[in-house]
Amino acid sequence: RALSTSAAHFNSIKTVTVIGSGLMGSGIAQVAAASGHKVIVVDKTQDIINKAESSIKKSLERIVKKKFPDDTKVGKQKYLTDVLENLSLSTDALAAVKSSDLVIEAIVENLDVKKELFSALDKAAPEKTLFASNTSSIPIKEIATATQRKDRFGGLHFFNPVPLMKLLEVIRIPETTDATYKSLEAFGKALGKTTVQCKDTPGFIVNRLLVPYMAEAIRLVERGDASPRDVDTAMKLGAGYPMGPFELLDYVGLDTTKFIIDGWSKKEPDNPLFQPSQMLNKLVKENKLGMKSGEGFYKYDKK
Ligand code: 3HC
Repeated sequence: RALSTSAAHFNSIKTVTVIGSGLMGSGIAQVAAASGHKVIVVDKTQDIINKAESSIKKSLERIVKKKFPDDTKVGKQKYLTDVLENLSLSTDALAAVKSSDLVIEAIVENLDVKKELFSALDKAAPEKTLFASNTSSIPIKEIATATQRKDRFGGLHFFNPVPLMKLLEVIRIPETTDATYKSLEAFGKALGKTTVQCKDTPGFIVNRLLVPYMAEAIRLVERGDASPRDVDTAMKLGAGYPMGPFELLDYVGLDTTKFIIDGWSKKEPDNPLFQPSQMLNKLVKENKLGMKSGEGFYKYDKK
């Protein structure tokens, strides 16, 4: 029965609820709306939701500039209106999932909070609705235990900045049916993303390689071997990366990276790739979280 419920759903995601309107959630909502889906973005307060709306508008303005370099104001305006028409905002998660084909969760990285949310959504959402988490540090299977729909559960892991990064990791747990997986994959392609498949393992593909690389860059600086600036220059010009590891750490958020490393080191304390970093912990303690707080490894003008 589970299979046929999901199969009926294959490639037919039209309405999406995104829970959490932070950097990731608002980016996901934006790309889903821009690709013709009806999207509801949910967060706790009207104030937070309003901020998300204005950051989506800012991002759309940047995209429009590039998309219609020679076009008239009319073309640009139509694009903006069409995307914004697909987007609505809410503070009521249970009501928002009532007519949703897919729910994507992008809230705080806390297992208990996520489980509480999904348990409530599981009761409120129709049976056909697929659930996905954008978590980058918690096993999907642990989150899915809060629901009765593990067969319709998976991971959709996006990258920052969501409107620009072309990759989407689609994660399956053992219970995820082929139909659910295909549906999630088809949704990713409908967003214009290239999808890759990965099992529910720490960091999936990208973070499993990227986080130890960033941690090793910090260790290199901790040993006094080179400065953050020189490491960044080296990796950009010597390895062709668009950002150096310290620029990327500041961009992603030092707290986010610390959170990922802490989670891994708790689970596998002997894994040398998962060792906590003194320098990272100190900066986070001082609230130097990167671009968002105005200072991380570098200083930024606060906008
Ligand atoms: N929305 C819309 N447009 C945006 C944007 C956004 N959020 N951010 C940047 N842009 C646009 C700019 O307006 C600019 O447009 P223009 O060419 O018309 O001027 C264009 O993108 C290029 O931006 P910039 O000139 O500011 O900078 P770059 O050329 O360096 O490109 C970048 C920016 C795409 C972010 C590039 O530096 C990059 O790819 N960096 C690496 C990012 C990365 O590795 N992300 C993954 C992080 S890991 C992760 O997210 C996982 C999580 O679990 C932690």
